[in-house]
Amino acid sequence: MGQIRLDKLLADAGYGTRSQVRQLVRKKQVTVNGEPAKGAEQKIDVDEDQVQCMGRPVFYAEYEYYMLNKPAGVVSAVTDSRDKTVVELIEERQRRDLFPVGRLDKDTEGLLLITNDGILANRLLAPGRHVDKTYYAEVDGPVTQMDVRLFAEGLDIGEEKRTLPARLVIEESGRELSKVWLTITEGKFHQVKRMFQAVGRRVLFLKRLSMGTLTLDPELKPGEYRKLTDPELLELKRQGR
Ligand code: URA
Repeated sequence: MGQIRLDKLLADAGYGTRSQVRQLVRKKQVTVNGEPAKGAEQKIDVDEDQVQCMGRPVFYAEYEYYMLNKPAGVVSAVTDSRDKTVVELIEERQRRDLFPVGRLDKDTEGLLLITNDGILANRLLAPGRHVDKTYYAEVDGPVTQMDVRLFAEGLDIGEEKRTLPARLVIEESGRELSKVWLTITEGKFHQVKRMFQAVGRRVLFLKRLSMGTLTLDPELKPGEYRKLTDPELLELKRQGR
């Protein structure tokens, strides 16, 4: 990763704004390899140098990647004046610039990638890339083979174009409740809910299970998260290329 300025390292690691961290340096609150830092512009080798701020070691991560099982009731945003956000759930985050890759509705649960890697995010979200997203849904009435065909053909959800072909798999169809899996390759606003609305159904529960090669870890309960493993990240980057 090489060298970066001390003030950038501290600010990126969440110790305050650039001017706040400069003050910390001036007040001799920051050491580099056990010696008081020389100045805010001091170059730090992030692989070699040991930086401490207020007696605590400072770890530098250029990029962070977390898999979150988003719980209902939390918004897919960085900050929000009313609601808790998905980024705020990542307590061990080191970077201040994390964001969710795409959005799940406030009442939707499931897989959300949280990172500060904008290039990867753009690749995964670019409309032309058609990255698969699979959801588990419960809806308020029967789902039929006719619906499977309609989803496969594309539905009019009030947009200029019909939805792209989607794969609907019926796990259970009941008079009052059906359980299905749906794979779509777009990410239009409220897309899954609007697709079911187009066939006269209402989504009662929605959970995202996968996005591209990334699959929600079944060990994660709603609200829990973990770092992506190296193979998960590699696969995701390969697919997003
Ligand atoms: N489609 C929806 O309707 N809501 C989501 O949260 C995700 C996809």
